[in-house]
Amino acid sequence: MMDRKTRDPRLANRVKLSEEHLITRMANIADGLKDVIKLGRGDPDLDTPPHIVKAGQDALANGATHYTHPLGILPLREAIAAYVKNHDGGDYAPDEVMVTPGGQQAMFIIALSLLNAGDEILAPCPGYNPYHQAAELADATLVKVPMTMATNFTLTAEMIEPLITPKSKMLVLINPNNPTGTVTAPDEVRKIAELCIKHDLILLSDEIYARLVYGNNSILSPASLPGMRERTITLSGFSKAYAMTGWRIGYITGPKELITPMSEINHAFAISTAAVSQHAALAAMTGPQDCVEEMRQTYDGRRAAILEGLTKMGMRYAEPQGAFYVYADVSSLDLGITASAFCERLLAEGEVMIYPGAIYGDHTDDFVRMSMTQPVPRIREAMDRMATVIQTIRADLRQPAL
Ligand SMILES: Cc1ncc(COP(=O)(O)O)c(C=O)c1O
Repeated sequence: MMDRKTRDPRLANRVKLSEEHLITRMANIADGLKDVIKLGRGDPDLDTPPHIVKAGQDALANGATHYTHPLGILPLREAIAAYVKNHDGGDYAPDEVMVTPGGQQAMFIIALSLLNAGDEILAPCPGYNPYHQAAELADATLVKVPMTMATNFTLTAEMIEPLITPKSKMLVLINPNNPTGTVTAPDEVRKIAELCIKHDLILLSDEIYARLVYGNNSILSPASLPGMRERTITLSGFSKAYAMTGWRIGYITGPKELITPMSEINHAFAISTAAVSQHAALAAMTGPQDCVEEMRQTYDGRRAAILEGLTKMGMRYAEPQGAFYVYADVSSLDLGITASAFCERLLAEGEVMIYPGAIYGDHTDDFVRMSMTQPVPRIREAMDRMATVIQTIRADLRQPAL
């Protein structure tokens, strides 16, 4: 068998074998364990609300088993356009909405449609790593905008501007951000929009977590700002707000001159998004919305439970303002190990799965991401197990070297 570090010469140069390793290794460790508390993946444990599932079942029974219009079924695109407009997003016609097999695929469609070799795309770091992969696939250059605790890991215009060059073509704003669970405030979004206008950048605004914000935080959709509609592509979806990760459906909105050619690329990749998922998403958008608020409140309760546990352990964290993640600083515990090593030990010894920030491009390897994807009692149990593993690591530290 080929050693993990050995690269199979048959692989294309664009295949980078780096980030998957830790996740795969952790998944392998988890396979041999009985009672892992999974706070790793960004996949809600909550099920899709029943009225949405029923709409999918009914659609199948009624023959929604075919390809659809490449942009998506018209009623869904109309519902998305209406939703975006009513929630202070841009004002888009249905042919300026493209339904995609998940927001994830949309990232690649956007990159392949808009980036040439050598173009620079600025993206927050730590940030959602498939943006990096999409840039690489398009032969573009990813320029990481490093964020730190100094701004609670939120993107600011001030940190972006010095990195802009004549080659800069696109800026990614993920708001709320994954993995940090932090929010770029409306005033800062305005400044970022001004920067995009000043430097003629396309803004890719990822608002997939926009309905999951806590406390007084709010999300401003830059497409609604003057001069931004024509230069903003907004990416969103159903996975997070409606717990629909397995349905694989998301969408983008943008000016027709960009959406129409992009739909050709989307067609080449997928022909269309699964019809059943589109009908379920239509029910999600047009049906009762209390389920979204209920889930948000559930996450908020879990957020409090994680923060209580971390505070007891004396572990520093970025203030989680949105999404369903807490980004915590392992280095603040002075354990003498990296966040990646901590995650492995926590899994092997405490049966708790969390991810290191390094997976999301964090060069420090100091931070870990914890997902709020388990009920409060399980989260409390996870925090207790984490405290025990920390004690063991501290005890190891005190042992004199042999
Ligand atoms: C920031 C961000 N954007 C987009 C996505 C893609 O979500 P989906 O493909 O399920 O719509 C994710 C998934 O975790 C994400 O974290």
